[in-house]
Amino acid sequence: MIDMDKLVDIENSTQSKQVFWDQDIYDLELERIFGRCWLFLAHESQLEKPGDFFTTKMGEDSVIVVRHTDGSLKAFINSCTHRGNSVCTADSGNTKSFVCNYHGWVYSTDGSLVDVPLKEKCYHDEIDMASLSLPSIRVDSYRGFVFGCFDETAPSLVDFLGDWGWYLDTWMVGAGSGVELVGPPMKSILKCNWKVPAENFVGDAYHVGWTHASALEMLGGELGGLAGNRANMPFDELGIQITTRHGHGFGVIDHAAVGIHEKRDGYLKFLQDTLPSVAEKLGQPRAKLYDGHWNCTTFPNCSFLYGTNIFKVWHPRGPHEIEVWSWVIVHKDMDDETKREVVKQAARSFGTAGTLESDDGDNMVNSTRNNQGRHTRANNMDSRMAVGYEGPHPDYPGIVGSSFIGETSYRGFYRFYQEIMSADSWEAIRAKDDQWDDCFPNKDYWAKRLAAKANVGE
Ligand code: FES
Ligand SMILES: [Fe+2]
Repeated sequence: MIDMDKLVDIENSTQSKQVFWDQDIYDLELERIFGRCWLFLAHESQLEKPGDFFTTKMGEDSVIVVRHTDGSLKAFINSCTHRGNSVCTADSGNTKSFVCNYHGWVYSTDGSLVDVPLKEKCYHDEIDMASLSLPSIRVDSYRGFVFGCFDETAPSLVDFLGDWGWYLDTWMVGAGSGVELVGPPMKSILKCNWKVPAENFVGDAYHVGWTHASALEMLGGELGGLAGNRANMPFDELGIQITTRHGHGFGVIDHAAVGIHEKRDGYLKFLQDTLPSVAEKLGQPRAKLYDGHWNCTTFPNCSFLYGTNIFKVWHPRGPHEIEVWSWVIVHKDMDDETKREVVKQAARSFGTAGTLESDDGDNMVNSTRNNQGRHTRANNMDSRMAVGYEGPHPDYPGIVGSSFIGETSYRGFYRFYQEIMSADSWEAIRAKDDQWDDCFPNKDYWAKRLAAKANVGE
C-alpha cells in the first residue's frame, strides 16, 4: 500500500527517495498522473495541413496526433483494434490513412476503421466496423501547443494550465505572430527517473552556478557571474520563482534571456525591438519577464528554458529511464538568419550532445541510480530552501518566491504530485482549488517586502 502522505511530507518539505525508484510508485504515476493530466503532444506548426501527423508518447502509450480532413486535430492510441500492432511506425509525415502492417486494416485520420481486407469472405460481412475505431484521446491546443488527455473528467486544458497560461502568454503570444517549435525533435535516452529533470527545470537555479560552473565561465555574459557561486550577487533582486495550481512552475533571471547565446546579436535585437509591444499588449509585469531567462516545467513532464529556447518532454520508460525529446523555440517573426542562430546555440547548449545538457545528465543519472541501495532510499530528500520567503504577489499570480534561487516551485510541484497521486478523482482535486496554496502560509511576505523597499526609496 502506497502512503503518499509519508512519501511526500508537505509540512516539512521532504520527499522519500523511493519516489525516484520504486516500481509500484511508478505504476501509480502512470495511472494517476500520466493517465489524468494534459500532456504535451506536438506544436501546430508540425500539423498544418490535413493528413499531417506526429507520433509521440503519453506515459508509455504510443499516440498519434493528426490534422483530420475537416481541419480538426485528432489524437488516438497507436494500437490496432485487431491484434494490437502499431498502425503507424513513422515519426511524422502526411497521410490519407493509417494502414496496419500486420493484416492491413485501414483507419481514417479521425481514427475510424474504414477498410478490412477480405471483409466479406473472412468476416462474412458481419464485422461491426463502427465499434473498432482507434481509442480516441481528448486533444486541445493552447497558443498552438497541442496537448492530449486520457481523462474525460479532467478540467479543460485552459483550466489545467490556469495561471500558468498567463505566464506562458508572455512569450507564446507576447511578440508579433507568436512562436513555433523547430523539429524534428532531437532524441536521447537518459537513465534517470522522469521527475529528476522535471523538478530540476521547475525550479533549480541553485545548481546552475555549481553544476555548470565551467560552461558559465567559458560563456561569460549575463550568467557568467554565477560560475562557481563566486560572485557576490544580490540574489533577491535578480529574479523570482513561481508556482501555480496543478504543480506548474518556473524561475526567472531578469534581463538574461540571451545568457547562453555566444552569438546573439540578432536575437538580442529581436527582443529589444519587440519589448515595447509586449509591454503594451500584456502590461509591465510581464514585459519585465519577457527578456528574462526562464527555467520551467508544465506539470508533469514538459519542460523548457525560455531564452535558451530549448523545449523538452521527458517521456518515462519505467522508473529508471526516460526518453528526452528536445525542440527549439523560435519566434515566427524572427528573420531566417536569427532563427538559424538560435537553433544552433540552443542545440550546442541543451541539445542531445549539448555542453550544459551533459553536465545535467550525470547528476540526473546519479540522483536516480543511488536509490538502488535499499538503505539509501529509506531516507528523504530535502526541499526547504527559503521556506517562508514566498507568498502572493500584487503583480504576479500564484505563489512567488523571493529569488530565482529557491525551492518554492519544487514545493509546489511536489505538493500537487502528492495531491494527484492521493486523489481518487478530479472531483476530489477540484474540491481543493481554493486551498491549494495553504502550505505557503506567509501571505504577507511580498506586502511587507515591497513596503520596506518603498520606504527605503522615499
Ligand atoms: S493487428 Fe492490425 S490488422 Fe491485424
Ligand atoms: Fe542544469
